[in-house]
Order: sequence, then C-alpha cells, then structure tokens
Amino acid sequence: MHLTREEERVYDGECGWASKICMKILVRLGELFDAEKLIPISSAHASGVSYKTLGDAPTEFLQALADADGKAKVEATTNPQSFDMGYLSKRFDKEVREKQLKVLDQFERMGFTQSLTCTPYYLKTPEKGAHLAWAESSAVVYANSVLGAWTNREGGPSALASAIVGKTPEYGMHKAKNREPKVLVKLETLLENETEYGALGILLGKILEDKIPVIQGLENASKDDLKQLGAALASTGMTNMFYTENVAEKTGEFEKISIEHKDIKKTIEDLSTASNAKADLVFIGCPHCSLDEIKHVADLIGDRKVRDGTELWVCTSRCVRAKAVESVKRIEHSGSHVITDTCAVVTWTDRLGIKTIMTNSAKTAHYAPTLNRAETIIAPMKNCLEPALKG
Ligand code: F3S
Repeated sequence: MHLTREEERVYDGECGWASKICMKILVRLGELFDAEKLIPISSAHASGVSYKTLGDAPTEFLQALADADGKAKVEATTNPQSFDMGYLSKRFDKEVREKQLKVLDQFERMGFTQSLTCTPYYLKTPEKGAHLAWAESSAVVYANSVLGAWTNREGGPSALASAIVGKTPEYGMHKAKNREPKVLVKLETLLENETEYGALGILLGKILEDKIPVIQGLENASKDDLKQLGAALASTGMTNMFYTENVAEKTGEFEKISIEHKDIKKTIEDLSTASNAKADLVFIGCPHCSLDEIKHVADLIGDRKVRDGTELWVCTSRCVRAKAVESVKRIEHSGSHVITDTCAVVTWTDRLGIKTIMTNSAKTAHYAPTLNRAETIIAPMKNCLEPALKG
C-alpha cells in the first residue's frame, strides 16, 4: 500500500502511539483487501459502544487510546449504548452502569459525539459521494443506497481507527466498480408496510450474500421503508447496498430473482417465533425512529393508555427526540417510554424479565431470539400498538 510521507510519519509513531496503532490497523486492513492507498473521510461512526455486546476487554484498548491522546480528526459519532440515562439506567445494577459509562467516557475523551444512535444520518446527513467509515450495518446500507454516500461496513476497531486517522483504505464500496449491481430482483408483489419491506431485506440478505441488487418495484417505498429493508438486508447477509431504480441496461449481464407475496409471507411467519403469545414488550424503533415515525406512533396511540403488564418502548436518537417534543409528550402520556441512546436489542431485556418482544422491525425479530433470549412477534407498527393499548 502506498503511504504519503505524512502517513509514513504517523505509521512510524512520530505523531504519537494512538495515531500509530490506528494507522497500523488501517494499513493491515488495506493490505488484506489490496487497497492501494488511504483516502480522506468526512465522518466515522463507531460501533462497539454497548457494554452488553462489547464486554470488558475492548474497554482497556479504548482507554489506552484515550490515555495516549487519541483524538478523532473527523466528525465521529457513536452507536447505541446498553441503556438510556433515564428510564432504563435505574433498572440495572451499579456495576454494569459504571462499566458502560466508562466505555462512553473513553469515546468522549477521544472527541466522539455522544450521538448514541444507529441513525447518525438524522444528526447530520452526509453529502452524496462523500467517503465515510461507518460501522453500523443498517446505517451503512442506508448511506450507500438512500443517501448516495460511500462506505464499507466497518468493524468497531477500523471505524475507530479511521476516526483517529481521518482516513480509510480505498477498497470495496469506495471504488465505483464494486458498486455495480449484479442481480436484478423483480418484486412481483406490492409491499404494504414497513414489516414487509424488512422481510424482503431478510430474504434477500440470505440469497444475495454480498452481491448488490437492483430491486424493481420499490417505487412506493418511503425512506423509512427503505431503512427497514436495508437494516434487515445487512442482518442476514453481507450486501452493503441496493439500487431502487432500474440501472440494468447500463451494466450488461444480471442474475435474475423474482420475489412473490408468498415468499414475504413465509419470511414473516418464520420471524415470528411466538405469534400466539402475549408480548411483555412492544418495541418500535429499530433502526431508531425518524421524526415521521415518532409522529406516526403518536397519532396511532391517540389518547389511549398502555395496558398494565405491557411495556411500550419507542426508541430514537436524542436529536430526533429533541425535534419531536409534542409527539414525545403525547406518546409518554400514554404510559409508553420514548427512549434514546439504546434499543431493545442492545440492552438486557432478559434481566428485565421480558420473554416476548413484539416489534415492527425484521432486524429485531431476527436478532432477539439469540441476543435477547426472547420469543418474537413481528407485525406492522399499527398492529404492534393495538394489543399494547387499552380502548
Ligand atoms: Fe439500531 Fe438497535 Fe436496531 S442499534 S439498528 S435499533 S438493533
């Protein structure tokens, strides 16, 4: 890999230990993927923030970087942690609270914004064509497919290293030739709600592996529908991008796949492991809710109250919550919780006694049986809210 003189100085440790280690991580990664050089990035987004998924060992590395004066050179944001500072933090013991806060502290010392969201694009939308180093898979697909930015699916260490160096190796999704679609997916059915878009993502993730599709039949999809599709796509496969318009004629030969309504229906059935049970938790907000979604939840709840024995969580980012004051008030008036900084998947729902989670998110339904040891029921937002509310 070719390094500029300045990059060589960083590599040799002339700019401090933290930059040196981060440069070594990036060079190693670049060599693995035959990158020829490093390119500047506009922003980095770090995963590995929730203590539940991170554990103890990485905290020491984060602390060592922060102690060595590691500082983000570009705009750097963080993924959700394992609880919010209000409702959930009180429900876990002191030890895990302290361990989580220690992780956050290291990111803060390194100059990361405590965005604590999987939707950093609501905080600041990257420009079309901007190169990023983002590590949250749902945000990666959204950035590449909906926002037109260019990012690989980074791991926690490489996103962190990129933030500190301000660069990423030029390979994968940073090269135009690797962004060409290879598969034409023909939707033979009209998708009717966000859950069906998520189911399409789950299904395609398994079929495509890492190939980029052009999906025909998404003309009516909202950005929130595409967010569900992308989050689910990244959950079951390594595809980092999809196209919504027909670019087939531009690039020659395509593998062709047809998706029918029965395929979507079967995927939803398979994701619901407890379709007849009563949910302990109804969870909306995977990925974190947009402003439109928060407003929609508030409208659907209306004046109703949450049933006794059921929890209703609406998860979003701090920035969206701050913009949705009236809707948040209406939602919380019902006895639901509008929770920032975390989500049902990255917190310890099992320690809260939650055995069954009902959600509109295919990504959550896919992960909850393993990561939360919970049974799942998946349904569109409206159908999730009904059983959680009185009247
Ligand atoms: Fe975000 Fe949690 Fe889903 S981090 S993408 S809401 S699993």
